[in-house]
Amino acid sequence: MVITVTGGAGFIGSNFIFHMMKKYPDYRIICLDKLTYAGNLSTLDAVKDNKNFRFVKADICDREAVYKLFEEEKPDILVNFAAESHVDRSIENPDVFLQTNIMGTAVLADACRKYGIKRYHQVSTDEVYGDLPLDRPDLLFTEKTPIHASSPYSSSKAAADLLVLAYNRTYQLPVTVSRCSNNYGPYQFPEKLIPLMIANALNDKPLPVYGEGINVRDWLYVEDHCTAVDLVIHKGRVGEVYNIGGHNEMRNIDIVKLICKELGKSESLIKYVEDRKGHDMRYAIDPTKIHDELGWLPETKFEDGIKKTIGWYLENKTWWETIISGEYRSYYNKMYGSKC
Ligand code: NAD
Ligand code: DAU
Repeated sequence: MVITVTGGAGFIGSNFIFHMMKKYPDYRIICLDKLTYAGNLSTLDAVKDNKNFRFVKADICDREAVYKLFEEEKPDILVNFAAESHVDRSIENPDVFLQTNIMGTAVLADACRKYGIKRYHQVSTDEVYGDLPLDRPDLLFTEKTPIHASSPYSSSKAAADLLVLAYNRTYQLPVTVSRCSNNYGPYQFPEKLIPLMIANALNDKPLPVYGEGINVRDWLYVEDHCTAVDLVIHKGRVGEVYNIGGHNEMRNIDIVKLICKELGKSESLIKYVEDRKGHDMRYAIDPTKIHDELGWLPETKFEDGIKKTIGWYLENKTWWETIISGEYRSYYNKMYGSKC
């Protein structure tokens, strides 16, 4: 089995590569990644010398490079994690989100069509459903919830979902789509809530909480997302969408206070700052379909996962300190400089 993983030098893609190489040592895994600010080759150090692994630096929008890879490797499955993934950056500069998340997906889908892939899997997000009200805990996103995206990021992801599902209907491309809730765990870029708060707390810097901090996210340990995608690509039904989430809704402020507590830092570091534009209030996934059809259940409880994650950031300071000293520093100053 040959699997191409696009975006495999990022947070979830790299964890997925580790999961697959451990579970299926005979599979050949090809990682195609442009190495944007969010991609880090050193993340893949543990697998880079494995004879069944190959890394290719390329842009998913580069048709020639993508087709060349297909000619060379003839993958059976493509799992597309490659994306611009940070909502705040999409609000500042939507262009690159439209380019990578929509046009890049189109190139990959065309390549899969041209070279006869057995499965194209699109890694999507619960954000395509928009948001839910705080005062209706009974409401959850199901696969039938209408698409109602709020940000340039989520609308670009929604467009990509619609495109690959249209390729299934029009060209019978064997696609599946998964829509997951917020992930946390090792190797997450420290611009996202949990690693940002860990890094800032460790450096005794302000912890910028948007608005009142009452927005709710549904957190899933990254390894549980990987096991779900593994099941969908092997057993999921072609043309179907699968929601992935572990019923773990938490308010942002409670997460930040928990991180302070775990690190022995004072809550006085918390700074309430201007809210995100169009900020989604609440996400909550109904994972009944993937559970009933494929038997998936998350394994990591949040209280264990957050301890593991904090432990990982404590043990791997070089990984994130290197990252926050580069391009990220000017991004951080631009986004937070006047706020904190
Ligand atoms: P990330 O930003 O950490 O990683 C993205 C990776 O894609 C990076 O390695 C980057 O270099 C690569 N990339 C970006 N543009 C590229 C291009 N044009 N060509 C090739 N490679 C390119 O993202 P992540 O958090 O790991 O998310 C991975 C996927 O999962 C995304 O599609 C995202 O929408 C989706 N998702 C993320 C979450 C989450 O909580 N992080 C939840 C649900 C779904
Ligand atoms: O739901 C899945 C999505 O989760 C993925 O599709 C996205 O790729 C991923 O980035 C994530 O999006 P969010 O916008 O939910 O994640 P983020 O970590 O940026 O923010 C989580 C919450 O924390 C959100 O309500 C905004 C808030 N926040 C975030 C940052 C960066 C703050 O209060 N302060 C901050 O500095």
